[in-house]
Amino acid sequence: MVSAVTEPSVLHDTRSAYDAVASRYAELFSNVLETLPMERAMLAAFAELVRAHNAGPVADIGCGPGQVTAHLHALGPATFGIDLSSEMVALARRAHPDLRFEEGSMTALDLADGVLGGILAFYSIIHTPPRQLPVVFTEFRRVLAPGGHLLLGFFAGDDPLPREFDHKVTLAYRWSPDSLAELSRQAGFVEVARLLREPHEDERQFQQAQLLVRKPQES
Ligand SMILES: C[S@@+](CC[C@H](N)C(=O)[O-])C[C@H]1O[C@@H](n2cnc3c(N)ncnc32)[C@H](O)[C@@H]1O
Repeated sequence: MVSAVTEPSVLHDTRSAYDAVASRYAELFSNVLETLPMERAMLAAFAELVRAHNAGPVADIGCGPGQVTAHLHALGPATFGIDLSSEMVALARRAHPDLRFEEGSMTALDLADGVLGGILAFYSIIHTPPRQLPVVFTEFRRVLAPGGHLLLGFFAGDDPLPREFDHKVTLAYRWSPDSLAELSRQAGFVEVARLLREPHEDERQFQQAQLLVRKPQES
């Protein structure tokens, strides 16, 4: 767990916001993947690549109530969840007692170097202030094994600079896929694939994107 004394206020605010809505969020999104075939396709490709490389488990970082963690685990790769919000972690443990969920922050992971075969960050980097995202990418690269994959889900925009928007839970940022891919490249990742889709009628009017990148084998 991140020390409450030293953590930046944005982590404190994000945790408090998700603690407050955790039950409602879990109710609303527990079956969300059923309506998201594009996301399921990217998750299946990610799972297949991680399994083929066989370099360690997947951490679903910013796992929320754990529904995507469980979906990924069922696809094959051993998967566990990490989230900033203790309420989210408690709900995830209750809903998926066979899986492991821990409190933690993507800005300082309690994991040794190179232990993960994959990282999923599904709509969780959206709350990281853009100036702090290089720290998160460096941390992701540190804990991934060489050749490990990172799959990011996020709200997209055309503007080359990240744009703040009023997410229903707490402040969030949209990224153009090109800008996020470039930031990941600067952190030492190699792009594998990306997906951009239009919003559904019941979603916010933002395009949604997934970016799949890989830590080079020789790093
Ligand atoms: C929009 S929810 C997504 C939850 C889940 N991935 C899903 O797709 O339903 C964002 C989640 O990221 C978590 N989160 C935000 N910042 C985080 C951080 N720095 N470290 C770990 N988790 C974080 C929040 O607590 C929240 O559960």
